[in-house]
Amino acid sequence: MRDDRTELLEAAATVMRRAHAPYSNFPVGAALRGADGAIHVGANVENASYSETQCAEASAIGAMVAAGETRITAVAVVAERVEHCPPCGGCRQRLAEFAGPDTPVYLGRPGAEPLRTTLGELLPLAFEPEALES
Ligand code: THU
Repeated sequence: MRDDRTELLEAAATVMRRAHAPYSNFPVGAALRGADGAIHVGANVENASYSETQCAEASAIGAMVAAGETRITAVAVVAERVEHCPPCGGCRQRLAEFAGPDTPVYLGRPGAEPLRTTLGELLPLAFEPEALES
């Protein structure tokens, strides 16, 4: 039985191969474990108008929300060209909307040793939805 980390990293690697990244040639895949246990995946989607590019994490969040899930319990991000692809600043904030600081984030590449970090390490002192309730 594969562990959570391996399953998520494999899902991210599989969806990475479907990335639409003809401009950067930097395919990225993201996989999110929802609170109900299901995995939601997404790849980066680039555009001829470069600034319209959507990151893999944003694509995965869109798929997750469309499936009716709003809590993330683990994240995996895989890129082909680097051993560990840390989520960009904007995606750290996007993830923080649905995940807490202790949420594990696995960064990996097929065949390489993955790195485990947490959302709190990637985005300390996050601006979270609760701030709007004060
Ligand atoms: N990219 C992601 O998909 N996620 C990240 O967190 C970092 C960057 C994508 C965006 C663009 O398509 C390509 O990587 C190069 O920046």
